[in-house]
Amino acid sequence: MSVLSKDIRPISGAGIGLRSPHINDILTSLPDISWLELLADNHFAEGGVVTAQLDAIAEYYPLTLHCVGLSLASLEPLDKVYCQRIKALAKRVNAKWISEHLCFTSSMGLHSHDLLPIPYNQESLNHCANRILQIQDLLGERLLIENVSSYMTFNNSDRVEIDFIVELAEKADCYLLADVNNIYVNHVNQGLDADYYIDNLPIERVKEIHLAGYQQQQNYLLDAHNNPVSEPVWALYQRLVKRKADIPTLIEWDNDIPSLQTLLNEARKAELIMQKGACHEP
Ligand SMILES: [Fe+2]
Repeated sequence: MSVLSKDIRPISGAGIGLRSPHINDILTSLPDISWLELLADNHFAEGGVVTAQLDAIAEYYPLTLHCVGLSLASLEPLDKVYCQRIKALAKRVNAKWISEHLCFTSSMGLHSHDLLPIPYNQESLNHCANRILQIQDLLGERLLIENVSSYMTFNNSDRVEIDFIVELAEKADCYLLADVNNIYVNHVNQGLDADYYIDNLPIERVKEIHLAGYQQQQNYLLDAHNNPVSEPVWALYQRLVKRKADIPTLIEWDNDIPSLQTLLNEARKAELIMQKGACHEP
């Protein structure tokens, strides 16, 4: 397939998600940031101040695209217009790669703001793999597929999440984005074995890691992206980094957005862990 001829271009270190309150600050001070991730859906508009600022940022920093609207697991026909918009934006900002979540966000003409989970069985695996192959063909490159937080499981799942993802990555020949916070949230909420998950990720396919903060609720963890990365998530990250030290890592913070410096401090902490992980490599 033609998509396979394009490989991931190099990017390294710890980046942060680009959020609008920080754009002026970044353009004014040009801080030392390894790379930035864009929420693609926020940047489809053509022209205007924000577009001009984004183009300026793209000249200084490597960028990646993170999508929420491809609705990989949806049973509806693929939204090819959306795919073309993603492709055009990726070209405009010279995005290093494009990522999307393993979930669905639309059904029967309705769109959800939540990333809705899927059953882990052969039927959904075949469906998702075919959709990913179709999208990759349209985009002309491999996608990075991200594991999501979920607050329910399906009776007709017949395998655990990581086993599903291993099979899916193989079948769709896609890359992976390992969100360590989501693994931990599902560990606490559903009893998922987080160590098994980390140890069984097909490490050569993992091209990006996400770190974020959750919010403690009375009986569960909410994947709120509004707090610093928690200690248990840093511990899982260390476990993953010991397997491979140089996987680009992103600090995701979407709500109650803190100062730019707070995000840079979190990214620096991730880079220190990456450097220690490299020291442990044989
Ligand atoms: Fe994430």
